[in-house]
Amino acid sequence: MGREPSAASAAGTNTVTNPVRILPSLLSCDFARIADEVHRAEKSGADWHHVDVMDGHFVPNLTIGPPVVARIHAAATRALDVHLMITDPDQFAEPFARAGAHVLTFHAEARPSTASQRATIARFRDVGVEKVGVAVNPDTPIERVADVLDAVDLVLVMSVFPGFGGQSFMPEVLPKVEWLRARGYPGLVEMDGGLNPETLPRCAAAGADTLVAGSAIFGAPDMRVRIAELRAAAEAARA
Ligand code: DX5
Ligand code: ZN
Repeated sequence: MGREPSAASAAGTNTVTNPVRILPSLLSCDFARIADEVHRAEKSGADWHHVDVMDGHFVPNLTIGPPVVARIHAAATRALDVHLMITDPDQFAEPFARAGAHVLTFHAEARPSTASQRATIARFRDVGVEKVGVAVNPDTPIERVADVLDAVDLVLVMSVFPGFGGQSFMPEVLPKVEWLRARGYPGLVEMDGGLNPETLPRCAAAGADTLVAGSAIFGAPDMRVRIAELRAAAEAARA
């Protein structure tokens, strides 16, 4: 299933042993120079690249499709974490897998029932992505994905309403991360939206390991310094 070999510690604690990963969100990059931005992020210490796909229906914004993701993949040496903010994830699973998605994440709000979530997860496995993720919006209870935790490699806890970069972090979602770790979820727990040097350590302390930042990384005066700062803050917060 592509699970990380390292797992969370015993149920009932927030301690995780998955590595901290810092993921620049390319949504905040200069799209006219996307390959250069991918290289700059990698030279600055990015672990993976976070790629935001929006369809103008699931969220009120449009971004990029499989051909652009394929070009990003061609430029990258690090894995692509593809966040699908789209109404029909099943329809586009194969093109995004072929474009080079390493992690492919769909939103639970697009697949509300457990049966439909399981069907989408099966579809993503069929098309051969390495890791399958499920995301929850700030107003979606984490219990909505409780019955598929055994089948996913990653849970993305959104800390803003998806659609745009540069929004403010919503600390009220942190208990969802704690809930996942307290029930012993061993996979990757990702947070996305409003992460910066002040808010990102709170995510790590709650048990998140896969940490996305767009404006805080691409808007930093020195990207390398910023990624190092974020990583150090996350590691200190979980110590
Ligand atoms: C929001 C996207 C995020 C966004 C985060 O819908 O899913 O990945 O790029 O941007 P920041 O870090 O600026 O909030
Ligand atoms: Zn995202």
